[in-house]
Amino acid sequence: MASNWTPESWTAKEARHLPSYPDAEALDKVTGTLGSFPPLVFAGEARALKADLAEVAAGKGFLLQGGDCAESFAEFHPNNIRDTFRVLLQMAVVMTFASKQPVVKVGRMAGQFAKPRSSPVEVQDGVELPSYLGDNINGIEFTAQSRIPDPQRLLQAYSQSAATLNLLRAFSTGGYANLRQVHQWTLDFMGRSPWADRFAQMADRIGEALDFMEACGIDPQSVPQLKGTSFYTSHEALHLPFEQAMTRRDSLTGDWYDTSAHMLWIGDRTRFEGSAHVEFLRGVGNPLGMKCGPSMAPDELLRQLDLLNPAREAGRITLISRFGDEKVEAGLAPLVRAVKREGHPVVWSCDPMHGNVIKADSGFKTRPFDRILGEVRGFFAVHRAEGTHAGGIHIEMTGQDVTECVGGAIAISDAALADRYHTHCDPRLNAAQSIELAFLLADMLNQEAVERAQRAA
Ligand code: TRP
Ligand code: MN
Repeated sequence: MASNWTPESWTAKEARHLPSYPDAEALDKVTGTLGSFPPLVFAGEARALKADLAEVAAGKGFLLQGGDCAESFAEFHPNNIRDTFRVLLQMAVVMTFASKQPVVKVGRMAGQFAKPRSSPVEVQDGVELPSYLGDNINGIEFTAQSRIPDPQRLLQAYSQSAATLNLLRAFSTGGYANLRQVHQWTLDFMGRSPWADRFAQMADRIGEALDFMEACGIDPQSVPQLKGTSFYTSHEALHLPFEQAMTRRDSLTGDWYDTSAHMLWIGDRTRFEGSAHVEFLRGVGNPLGMKCGPSMAPDELLRQLDLLNPAREAGRITLISRFGDEKVEAGLAPLVRAVKREGHPVVWSCDPMHGNVIKADSGFKTRPFDRILGEVRGFFAVHRAEGTHAGGIHIEMTGQDVTECVGGAIAISDAALADRYHTHCDPRLNAAQSIELAFLLADMLNQEAVERAQRAA
């Protein structure tokens, strides 16, 4: 266990991007209540995810992590949860089938509310108000009242997370994720994408493989792996009073776990040395992510790894790089080299979203699909050159047919962004764009496997 650590030791450190509540007592009351509520996840599940990620760190598997930039109270609906889950399943099955490697599925779901913002204030038509910080903190509505942080929102976020997680658990083990359902996962509007055909062809081949195995006596009834899947949750551990309230000692091991999600990550804005967020996360046993962008120096990264993973436990750390398509090759390579040299076992995952934000002529914040693919290609190129495993993808996506990122096979134009731009924060890939990305990833994973086999021969 981490030395000199307690669930509140972070309070002595510099905490950036925490809301300041006008009524501190009201916050204490809410965190006290949350502390008495049931954990959302069980420590044993977090350890199972860590074991899965350890396999990925060893080059055997791939991490798929995706969901909303920010979940919202307004978009809380079973259909939205189902559709996002369904697209993640489709992506996972495409990648598993093509690469013949397991895909570890982690949602940015059931708790991804709080957002660090580039500016503490927002100005509209000459009026300045505090920025929107996520539905668990304040309201997105541009009024002075709604922008005041309200601790009661944490209770609503807890309850929404619990209900979301409950549905996700039901879908993953209750029959929805059965491989026999693969054709049913196709969403109607995917029909307009040329990738829908490719998906249907692959689904046919999977169906045939299942028919064959069934004739051999292997079917979803006898082999539970065909009937369901493991699905994990994650979010940015930004709101430390909330995360602290959800942190409990595991009765089996005596170790501390943040039971708000299986995996927690530290954002690029809160991973600086001396940060309260790093202090908090170093003491919990969950698998952790850390975002790494252009401002991360290799020696700083190594110090953070020593702090967060002194025992060098595989599966503990996932490094999520987010450089932008133009910077990824030059920026990522020195980090990969340093981590490899020091022998830290990490999962390298690519966030091709956050380094590729532009303001469209229409005024919308968007992400060109080409740049997203460009960063993914650059990420794979770096790992190929360094002899390391391109281990994962971290994306902001939704199962809804939104128009937030420009491009893709059903080309979304700048002018079309206004049609269905629903995000509460950053622009997300829609269902068709997500599947298209999955096919690209499948090709690249295949290529990696071929090259590895050639080197071994
Ligand atoms: N259990 C396996 C897995 O999760 C196979 C599987 C079942 C699966 N349902 C799935 C794979 C849905 C991808 C998507 O990998
Ligand atoms: Mn985002």
